Parts: sequence; structure tokens; C-alpha cells
Amino acid sequence: MLLGPSGCGKTTLLKLVNRLYEPTRGRITVDGTDIHALPAPALRRRIGYVIQQSGLFPHMRISENIGIVPTLLKWDKARIATRVDELLDLVGLPPADYRRRYPAQLSGGEQQRVGLARALAADPSTLLMDEPFGAVDAITRTRLQDELRQIHTRFRQTVLFVTHDIEEAVRLADEIVVMREGRVVQFATPMRIVMEPVDSFVANLVGANDVLRRLSLVSVSEVLTPLAGPVGPVEPRLQRAARLRDALGALLESGADRVVVIDDDARPLGTVDLGVIQRAGTRSGAGWPAEPAVGFSGQQGSV
Ligand SMILES: Nc1ncnc2c1ncn2[C@@H]1O[C@H](COP(=O)(O)OP(=O)(O)OP(=O)(O)O)[C@@H](O)[C@H]1O
Ligand SMILES: [Mg+2]
Repeated sequence: MLLGPSGCGKTTLLKLVNRLYEPTRGRITVDGTDIHALPAPALRRRIGYVIQQSGLFPHMRISENIGIVPTLLKWDKARIATRVDELLDLVGLPPADYRRRYPAQLSGGEQQRVGLARALAADPSTLLMDEPFGAVDAITRTRLQDELRQIHTRFRQTVLFVTHDIEEAVRLADEIVVMREGRVVQFATPMRIVMEPVDSFVANLVGANDVLRRLSLVSVSEVLTPLAGPVGPVEPRLQRAARLRDALGALLESGADRVVVIDDDARPLGTVDLGVIQRAGTRSGAGWPAEPAVGFSGQQGSV
């Protein structure tokens, strides 16, 4: 996930990867191959690109939009039609309903799905996604994120994903690249970025100064301690994807001393107690330069 303020160079970085821009220096490799060893069209065939606001061609039907790259690759018509239907299924749009429509006859979220289907058409090993879910409501966004994650679990593409949204970055990232003014300022796992931001810029960007925010970004599975003793009947259970904020809520609600983290088959994996939550909520040793305290200057109580 590439994270950073407007104008820091996220889109530029994506365009360097598929050679819409050429670097003045440095080397870029994709799957271990220097991208300059391949002709640009061959390279782009291996790299799907989802641009902001879906970028569908308005005068082309959904099937034609999705079939653009296969058509360029001169696949025969039957193979393209099969592939289009397969991709529509994959992104959750029933082909019979959607393949003949035009982009204007789709909602924003549906258009984003088609954009993703189009990028996946020729089975790329790498996906570049530039704020693909920026323009949809929160519920649709979560659904699209889940779908992307399922697709990724199945096909294991390398995904470079640009976002402004720290929650999205943490939910989807293996690693986060924080950029500022054309430079990478931190490259680390979500956990490290939130717990050990390298400076106040990163800390502000990810909201690391807000305790509940920090707790909402760390999953229980990242900090659990091995199970000691039998699990009591009143001890709350949480799935491993739950956040420390959920764990804190569960502790306060149940009055128990610890929550039990369980796997998909409800087997206990370990526990999280208040001490663990407290340590995670406290700034870690590495720390970062303190920000001046900002008071609440609005009119309290007004709506
Ligand atoms: N083709 C171009 N020629 C010259 N400068 C450009 C070009 N494209 C972008 N820039 C500049 O490069 C900088 C980085 O732009 P870029 O589009 O990569 O930002 P970004 O991080 O994607 O921002 P946003 O979040 O707003 O999309 C900006 O200052 C922009 O004005
Ligand atoms: Mg951009």
C-alpha cells in the first residue's frame, strides 16, 4: 500500500512501474526482471492497471471494456466472451445482467468492480491500483476490499495499491510505503508504522497519537500471549482478525480478565489481557518527536 498526501508522487510511482514514465535513474524490477529488459507493451500485458474513477470507456459495453486487453492480444471471440463472463462472476456481477450494459448504467461501486475485472483480464502477475475504491461509500468500500482480498488469496498477484485512507492501508497491506514529497519516508508492516512511526509526519498521517486509533489498527493476533490454563465460560472470544479496540470493549463489557483469541474453527490461539492492550496503547520505546498538543478549539456541545 502506498500512503501519502496529495502530490507526494504515488501515481508517478505507479506510472514508472508500467513505463508510462521513464525513470532518469535507478532500476525497477518486476518479478525479478528489469522492466527495461521487456518492450513496454509486453510489460503492460503482465501488469493490470486500475485507475482512479474506474476509467471505463463510456461508449463501450461492459463486455467490450473488460475485453480490451484480450482483444489487443488477438484472442478469438469465444475465448474473450468466456473470459469476460468468468471475470464478471469473479467480481460479483452476474454476467447475464451486466455484460451488455454501458458504464453509465452501473453504480459507482459496480463501475469500480468492472475496472478491477478489466485489469485482471489477461491474468497479470502484478496489479497497480490507484485509489480504486476512493469514490464509493464506506459499506461498498469494505465489500470491495474483501473481494480484492479474496481474489488476491486465490491468485497471489503482487498488488501496488494507492490510498489516502489509513484504515484501508492497514486492512489490506502486508507492507505500507509512506511517501512525502517524492521520497519514501517509511516502509514497514502496518504494525510497525502505527507503533513506531519514524517521525511526526508519519505519526500524524496514521493518527498514531490517538490511543483508540492505535488500538483499532492492531489485530489481537499480533500481540496475543500463549494460552495459560483452561478457557473459562465467561471469557469473551474474538476472531483473530479482531482489533485491540474490540478486545478492550469486550473486556470492559464482560468484566473478564482476558479475551480468548480463536481461529476459524473456534480453537483457542492465545489470550489478550489488559496489560497487553495497555502496552500496545502506550507509545513504544522508539517513539517519535512529540507534536505540540492541539486543544479542541471548536464550540463544545454545538452540532
Ligand atoms: N506529467 C507530469 N509532469 C510534470 N509534473 C507532474 C506530472 N504528473 C504529476 N506531476 C507532479 O508530480 C507531483 C506528484 O504527482 P502525483 O500525481 O504522483 O501525486 P499523487 O501522490 O498521486 O497525488 P494524489 O494523491 O493527489 O493523486 C505533483 O507535484 C504533480 O504536480
Ligand atoms: Mg494520484
